[in-house]
Amino acid sequence: MCEMYDEILTEGLNGVIINKTEDVDIVNPWNVSSTRATGVDYEKLTKKFGCTKITSELIKKVKSIINKDPHHLLTRGIFFAHRDFDIILDMYVQKKPFFLYTGRGPSSEAMHLGHLIPFIFTKWLQDIFDVPMVIQMTDDEKFFWKDLTLEQTHTLAIENAKDIIACGFELDKTFIFSDLDYISQSRAFYSHILRIQKLVNFNQIKSIFGLGESDSIGKIQFPAVEAAPCFTGSFPHIFGVENAKTKEMRCLIPCAIDQDPYFRMTRDVAPKLGYAKPAMIYSSFIPSLQGAQTKMSASEEMTSIYLTDTPNQIKNKINKFAFSGGKDTIEEHREKGGDCSIDIPYQYLKFFMEDDKKLEQIYQDYTIGKMLSGEIKKQLIQIIQDIVKDHQEKRSKITDEMVKAYMTPRKLKFSY
Ligand code: TRP
Repeated sequence: MCEMYDEILTEGLNGVIINKTEDVDIVNPWNVSSTRATGVDYEKLTKKFGCTKITSELIKKVKSIINKDPHHLLTRGIFFAHRDFDIILDMYVQKKPFFLYTGRGPSSEAMHLGHLIPFIFTKWLQDIFDVPMVIQMTDDEKFFWKDLTLEQTHTLAIENAKDIIACGFELDKTFIFSDLDYISQSRAFYSHILRIQKLVNFNQIKSIFGLGESDSIGKIQFPAVEAAPCFTGSFPHIFGVENAKTKEMRCLIPCAIDQDPYFRMTRDVAPKLGYAKPAMIYSSFIPSLQGAQTKMSASEEMTSIYLTDTPNQIKNKINKFAFSGGKDTIEEHREKGGDCSIDIPYQYLKFFMEDDKKLEQIYQDYTIGKMLSGEIKKQLIQIIQDIVKDHQEKRSKITDEMVKAYMTPRKLKFSY
């Protein structure tokens, strides 16, 4: 059955999956959408991109290594695919050094709930692995792709850095940098960008990213900028002068799967630069309030929950716009039950409700019609209001001096 299904799958351009029943998934760094009510078929995407699925065995391995329950974003399959994450786990066991790398494209001042996911998970990874970490703010990228000036994208980078710091990253283990600033501060960073640019040609960029002749040369060269932080040589203030040992120091990148094209390219050039390939652990997307066909987007005000929303706005948005997998009338719902696979409140609870037992109970009650749509929404509203309030409190304590401290190139503390 599975094979037959694969046979009728025809591949479109970079990240577009089409099959003859006319379901279409689009996943690339600029677009995520699906015609299916259950959203992108991540199983198929994993295969198409050539990543590896995160199996229950791998999750068990994590548990036995860290000696406690892994984060629910991992156990619930929200982080669902990887490249060489198993190698990173082995390195951790053997006490070999590695580091974490993630980033954010600052295109809007108000970050939304979905933007928090990779940072929440990365913070957890930093806590368990106790390794240094770099966070790239791509103000240059957003200048190329959005109708924004460099001054605007740089200001947004600083504003977004406050939200990221509010997630709890430790100052002595975390370096946050704006591309615009750091390229002018670091010959080493720019040197690595140039080395990567020399190794990748336009044909490769065309086929990996779908960029073409009429795209600006800024966009065409940018992938090298996102690739360079994978290499320790870009950060001599953290890792010292590049040598055989620092070149073996891999990075692990927790991010959403739409970034895979960048790192596929990076893994290709890494050996040519004498570096170990970067490893990745990939998340799915948090759906928009209106349904899993699209991801939450900073530019869709009514279908996104922002980290700046008031409790009332959160309540109204969820009550009014969250797509329900419940039935039209109470009678019908009691009789037939709701469909959690398309119910947005349930899907969001999977991201944000920490208690596994409670979540399972809700799943059961909602599926058999014991719990109503209004009730599941009420649970979600409370949880999201608490998370956003907590975030706002933490963010309000982040001063400009603190941002500067995180963004100053300096030595970080780590034990190898
Ligand atoms: N391109 C990413 C964005 O638009 C930002 C980014 C840069 C990033 N480096 C990264 C994301 C590394 C994840 C991992 O949001």
